Amino acid sequence: MSQSEHPATTESDLESAVIIPPEAYTSKAYAQAERDRLWRRVWLQAGRVEEVPNPGNFITFDVGDDSIIITRAPDNQLNAFHNVCPHRGRRLVDVPPGKRNARGARSQFVCGYHGWRFGLDGENTHIPSQEDWQGAVDHCAGLTAVQLDTWGGWIWINMDPDCEPLADFLAPVPEMLDPFQLQNMRVRWRKWGIFNCNWKVAMEAFCETYHVQTTHPEFNRYGAFRGWSQSHGKHSNIGYVTAKEMDKNQSAKLRLSDNDDPRIATAEMQEYVWNNANTNTTETLVNAARRLKDELPEGTPPTEVLQHWLKSARADDEARGMVWPDVDPEHVGKSGTAWQVFPNFQIGHSVNNMLCYSARPYKGDPDQCIFEGAVYELYPEGKEPETEWEFCEATAEAWCYVLGQDFSNMAAVQEGMKSLGFNGAKPNPFMERSVANLHRNLAKYMEAGQPCQLKK
Ligand code: FES
Ligand SMILES: [Fe+2]
Repeated sequence: MSQSEHPATTESDLESAVIIPPEAYTSKAYAQAERDRLWRRVWLQAGRVEEVPNPGNFITFDVGDDSIIITRAPDNQLNAFHNVCPHRGRRLVDVPPGKRNARGARSQFVCGYHGWRFGLDGENTHIPSQEDWQGAVDHCAGLTAVQLDTWGGWIWINMDPDCEPLADFLAPVPEMLDPFQLQNMRVRWRKWGIFNCNWKVAMEAFCETYHVQTTHPEFNRYGAFRGWSQSHGKHSNIGYVTAKEMDKNQSAKLRLSDNDDPRIATAEMQEYVWNNANTNTTETLVNAARRLKDELPEGTPPTEVLQHWLKSARADDEARGMVWPDVDPEHVGKSGTAWQVFPNFQIGHSVNNMLCYSARPYKGDPDQCIFEGAVYELYPEGKEPETEWEFCEATAEAWCYVLGQDFSNMAAVQEGMKSLGFNGAKPNPFMERSVANLHRNLAKYMEAGQPCQLKK
């Protein structure tokens, strides 16, 4: 093995190459241990605040063996409880067959087995023949509370009663992403599926730009920008190395070869992304890009094209009542294009839209996961579409061409990692540090799967 004895435990250890043993991806024992060591101890993104707008609204969120009910109580408080009846353990709220989760409005929860009842605050409100317990059940008849907090417009839950506050867990993500006002965006589409790979394989398909030149060759037409990846404690982010003379703000959106007419290239790339990914852009941005050739003379330098495009798209949206936040270009440059929130949530942010992924285990099987993707954007008030989680197979037809390219690697990686001929993942220390940082942090929770320095 070309693996040293030196574990990579600090962020600076990740500046040089590391090797990650395959067990975190393939071992059944590791996958089983994740339930207690990881999933029951971390803050998890469990839904959007706008899914439970009014008292009585509830959603469920399942992760491994655990199911959580999130309610809005009559006092407007959001609460989370384990979705289990304390009487004899029936799951309290069933997820309709084929659905990702349950969602609805109720004044109370009634267990379908023997009729125990619970308020939206988790208190037990009725036990048929309660006197038969002679008072012994009174103190333990309510639902078991789960920690809940909100950030970015999402509801976060933590099953560990002694967990650190959400703000401490997420730092520095809120500080970096709050200027983008993610809480004001609403879902354009959201899909989920059961994929044939470990949840980490699915997340790691999106947390680096190293794969773009090979997995998405069509993008090479628009230039070859180098992507960086940085660790930030538990979390990490990625972005593009800014090309000289280009606005740090949006350089990744305009990746040009030297000979291109930036007006045409911008429009082409926007059309390509809109038609083949349906992510990372909006109809307003696409339409503004289409007009560039009419609104600007030939020979307009790339920076001016970029500025004109964003300014006119911003004005179009403003006329419809959607105000993009103003974010300092320096800050935009530092924030990059996406954040990996430990352990399983990625936010691809911008001022007017975002693309988020998450993945979690499926039935305790290291070879399967539940994968989710959602695109959000700003909408005029009252014009937000009503969306549901749509179940989709892991295909380009069901999702889109570009994501299909990403999916095409996942099961093949999962199978490949089990090979006798594979001794561990060797992420690119500059472009794929987010992968190494995920495993550096996982190892702290799991006490297994520790990345080690890769010897020269
Ligand atoms: S299991 Fe719920 S009332 Fe009996
Ligand atoms: Fe990709």
